[in-house]
Amino acid sequence: MTIRFNPFVDLKAADTSKRYRELRDHAPVHWSDEGQIYTISRHEDVRTALKDPDTFSSEAMKTVLNSALTVPINPRYALKLLSFLFHTRINPLRILKVGNLISLDGERHNVLRKIVGKGFSPRRIGDWQARTHAIVEEHVARMRKRDEIDVVADLAVPLPTIIISEILGVEPERREDFKRWSSKIIDLASGAAKENFLDSGVLDDVADMFLYLQDAIKKRRSEPQEDLISQLVDPKQDGVLDELDAINFVILLLVAGNETTTNLIGNAANALIDHPEQLAQVAADPSLIDNVVEETLRYEPPLTVAFRNTTRETTLGGISIPKGKFVALLLGSANRDEQLFEKPDAFNIHRDSSNHLSFGFGVHFCLGSSLARLQARTALVALVPELVEFRRRGAPSPLIDSFLVRGRQSLLLQRR
Ligand code: HEM
Repeated sequence: MTIRFNPFVDLKAADTSKRYRELRDHAPVHWSDEGQIYTISRHEDVRTALKDPDTFSSEAMKTVLNSALTVPINPRYALKLLSFLFHTRINPLRILKVGNLISLDGERHNVLRKIVGKGFSPRRIGDWQARTHAIVEEHVARMRKRDEIDVVADLAVPLPTIIISEILGVEPERREDFKRWSSKIIDLASGAAKENFLDSGVLDDVADMFLYLQDAIKKRRSEPQEDLISQLVDPKQDGVLDELDAINFVILLLVAGNETTTNLIGNAANALIDHPEQLAQVAADPSLIDNVVEETLRYEPPLTVAFRNTTRETTLGGISIPKGKFVALLLGSANRDEQLFEKPDAFNIHRDSSNHLSFGFGVHFCLGSSLARLQARTALVALVPELVEFRRRGAPSPLIDSFLVRGRQSLLLQRR
């Protein structure tokens, strides 16, 4: 059986479960000529690769995602780029070289993760519980008054954006700008803004954001506040981040933290609407909410794939992979592996979903997992009693146009 699977194209399909099964059964380590990439689909192999960063480098996270953003260089693009570099006064060579936490390996990754990790400890995140609750209540209260709602726009999008802005210390009056910048970057990273890159205004927005963050960092250095930016640039700590490291990390938080959490909340609500008997069970017994969050992560992970490149020849699932190849680790398929999960294509909030790989595994395990779980749990506690009153309005919305993130553009509901 010959299987053709190009992750950059096929991960965008509305239903990937059949393709995932084909890969796991017949080509668990699959080479795509078209995508020039290996695809790994079984749970054990994906986990093995995530556990071995010396062989499977995260440099690919930068290379693959940047290549998805490359646009043909033309004079207009060059002019925009020059204006960006002039205004931000950032060294272009350093921009190309500097890595993001998610794409760094070895000692540099350890050092950076230790510094930024402090801001994401369970205790620090616990401090955000009351505020998360208040934001959720404010938004759900508005939804309660309406007969037609969009779970994505009304709750799943604003909640993570407000929380991350407040954690970073973005002033309330700049929150709208911050939201716009983050959507633009996410749009670009997801591939949706790629076609009209120059007209989308994304470079202007990124330049505005750089200037804002440069200013914010300068202010925090002279007058530290109780926020994450102050912590990132605190001169008292070892191995303090320089300006570009700090800006890069803030951008990573926007991209890695916003869209994923939005989709976790949206995917959970969508799955519950599709499974009314399980929705009724959670409404009757809210202690099942944590199971809903974990089963949603397993069933429809907001991030479907992690990329790596091989630093040496290696063997995975008995198949040899040469040195210097890109590898797509299908988190979504690993979560549907029948070796670990019975009837894996069924959404079942009563199963033990704890072995899912949706937050990754090993040294790059998601830094924001506690924050994402806190937001999803709090959102669902308020949302579930409302969801039972609503049914789907119109045809289900298309998925976001992305091979990386998975979720719906909207979730339109109307009161019964
Ligand atoms: C449901 C929501 C989320 C999902 C599914 C998710 C998923 C992931 C995954 C799979 C990785 C590992 C990538 C790899 O191994 O290459 C990761 C890393 C990361 N995530 Fe999340 N994430 C979520 C929410 C968040 C939030 C809320 C934040 C922060 C505000 C965040 C920040 C990060 C960071 C900084 C990393 C890089 C860690 C490192 O490389 O050491 N994530 N995330």
